[in-house]
Amino acid sequence: MTKQSNNGAKPETNLYLVGFMGTGKSTIGRMVASRLGFKFLDSDAEIERARGKSVRKIFEQEGEDAFRRYERDFIVDGHPPQRCVVACGGGLITQPGMVDILKAKGVLIALYASPETIIERTSINRARPLLDCDNPEKRIRELMAAREAIYREAGSLVLTDHRSRCEVLAHIQRIYSREVRERGTRKLEE
Ligand code: S3P
Repeated sequence: MTKQSNNGAKPETNLYLVGFMGTGKSTIGRMVASRLGFKFLDSDAEIERARGKSVRKIFEQEGEDAFRRYERDFIVDGHPPQRCVVACGGGLITQPGMVDILKAKGVLIALYASPETIIERTSINRARPLLDCDNPEKRIRELMAAREAIYREAGSLVLTDHRSRCEVLAHIQRIYSREVRERGTRKLEE
């Protein structure tokens, strides 16, 4: 048995929001962080700050593999181990071993939206290099098909289609509280 448990104290465990581009990870993540009194971090924004250039520029100048390495470094040892809500870039979790790394670090919740919703939400800005192509709709469907199983297996899945931000927020808070309790119980039983 380890001594680690919450003992009724406020939870400290990091929350990682994963899911495809346009599922609302950053918007909702900010809201959850403010509710929990945690720091909000967006993996893309943190990488941009550390590298001094946009994700688009990193893709253009250094390639996707370099960007994936920066994502990995940020997750492995580039952010505080507690009291953070982290919105993870859509492809971050698809890297080998990343689901286990994230699960060891905190609670993992995946946001889901249908391809139609994603197409609508992502059409308004061109900041995403993977969708900067002749047929972004086709690309979205291909990428989603390739990644869907990973998002589904990553952790609890929260549907965002036709749900208000407040509804999504409430679901996330409920899942987070339950999973923090379960983690505490698991640690006590070890
Ligand atoms: C990517 C998602 C983006 C960003 C990069 C690659 C992906 O983040 O990390 O453009 O591979 O799905 P968002 O999910 O925040 O758009």
